[in-house]
Amino acid sequence: METRHDFGSKIGAVLASAGSAVGLGNVWRFPTEVGNNGGAAFIFIYLLCIAFIGIPVMMSEFLIGRHTHTNTISAFAKLAPGKWWRIEGIAGVFVAFLILSYYIVISGWTLFYLIESVGGKLQADRDYSDVFNNFVSNPWMPVLAGVAFMAFTHFIIARGVQSGIEKSSKLMMPLLLFIIGILVVCSFGMPGSSKGLSFLLKPDFSKLTADVILSAVGQAFFSLSLAMGCLCTYASYFRADTNLPKTAVGVSVIDTVVAILSGFIIFPAVFSVDGVSVDAGPGLVFITLPSVFNIAFHHVPIIGYIFSAFFYLLLLLAALTSAISLHESVTAYVLEAFSLSRKRAAAAVSIACMTLGIVCSLSFGLLGDLKLFDMNIFELFDFTASKIILPIGGIIICLFTGWYLDRKLVESELTNQGKLRFKLFRIYYFIIRYVAPLAIAAVFLQEILS
Ligand code: PFF
Repeated sequence: METRHDFGSKIGAVLASAGSAVGLGNVWRFPTEVGNNGGAAFIFIYLLCIAFIGIPVMMSEFLIGRHTHTNTISAFAKLAPGKWWRIEGIAGVFVAFLILSYYIVISGWTLFYLIESVGGKLQADRDYSDVFNNFVSNPWMPVLAGVAFMAFTHFIIARGVQSGIEKSSKLMMPLLLFIIGILVVCSFGMPGSSKGLSFLLKPDFSKLTADVILSAVGQAFFSLSLAMGCLCTYASYFRADTNLPKTAVGVSVIDTVVAILSGFIIFPAVFSVDGVSVDAGPGLVFITLPSVFNIAFHHVPIIGYIFSAFFYLLLLLAALTSAISLHESVTAYVLEAFSLSRKRAAAAVSIACMTLGIVCSLSFGLLGDLKLFDMNIFELFDFTASKIILPIGGIIICLFTGWYLDRKLVESELTNQGKLRFKLFRIYYFIIRYVAPLAIAAVFLQEILS
């Protein structure tokens, strides 16, 4: 049996958790949601969701993980021996596995786009819709890109908690923030960027519908990596003196700042080109942006080159830090449950996930006709994970912490056995018992009914 290591430093714990949260969800999904849901009004609701639902749920995951110091499945089993709550641990690890298998597909695309942009191939007047469709439907290229991405992830996980996850997060997260800084400056400097800024800053509350609010809650959950065992697993490596409420706030602030800055990178760029639509959906990053980079930087191609290469590097780093946490959530369980060495457990998870990932990848080409409920395999996985298992998991975590666990245990874990002051505990407890589970239940029912 391997010795269990903790994160060596508090900053390492914050950066690794922030790495899990900051991902494709921030740079790709958030701007897409903002574009589809009307801009600033969506952002306003999103911020409320982060503050009043996201942070309390994250604190709950942290306390469950740190209190038990074990993988997510054993954590629930330990706190509620012989009870059905353990299903939540199983669902968390299962959903992390499912998400990782399609997350690597999109991550592979970002790797391909990075290589293309560094090689100068995104610097031409091409039909980028064709470029994208030809690439994703090719039987080999996206699979190879996904395998390469999985190899990076595997390498980091196999090195362990301190020399793999913590060290890489300490390197990648500052680099990621630095790149965002450069890109925001580039984007603000573009002609016509003020139109993009007002889209992001001036709320039009007439655009707010129930659907927009529900999308904001869903996005907050996905973006903060909640209900998938990842943060619970990471918290099991937190040291006894880590301040859980502060860490949850820190991680959520980093995640939200990155999401909003990604909007500040993408929208001024998109608005600077006439006739390009902001609500392009998932194609925003892979189809709309390459054309925007080209048109906008026609006169200074070198800046266009730097902008696009840095942008896809940013996307890749964000994807990698999140994929690591998804992988670790599953690896920690396999390693501890089957008493395997870390290297073997990581290899088993990488191979299993990659196999499923290949099937997902082929659902854009060879296996495109294989459909269930009108969804291809990729869409089916995404739907099952983020629209069904995730919200149910969120509700269970709230009920578990708010109603099943002893209030004293919850308070004592959040205050490091009374050594820290947590003045807002009562508010936290009220939210976790009533507000958060009801709000998530509303989202879930709406999604299912629609
Ligand atoms: N939070 C990540 C993102 O925004 O892309 C995605 C993610 C990672 C979701 C880890 C869930 C998770 F457990």
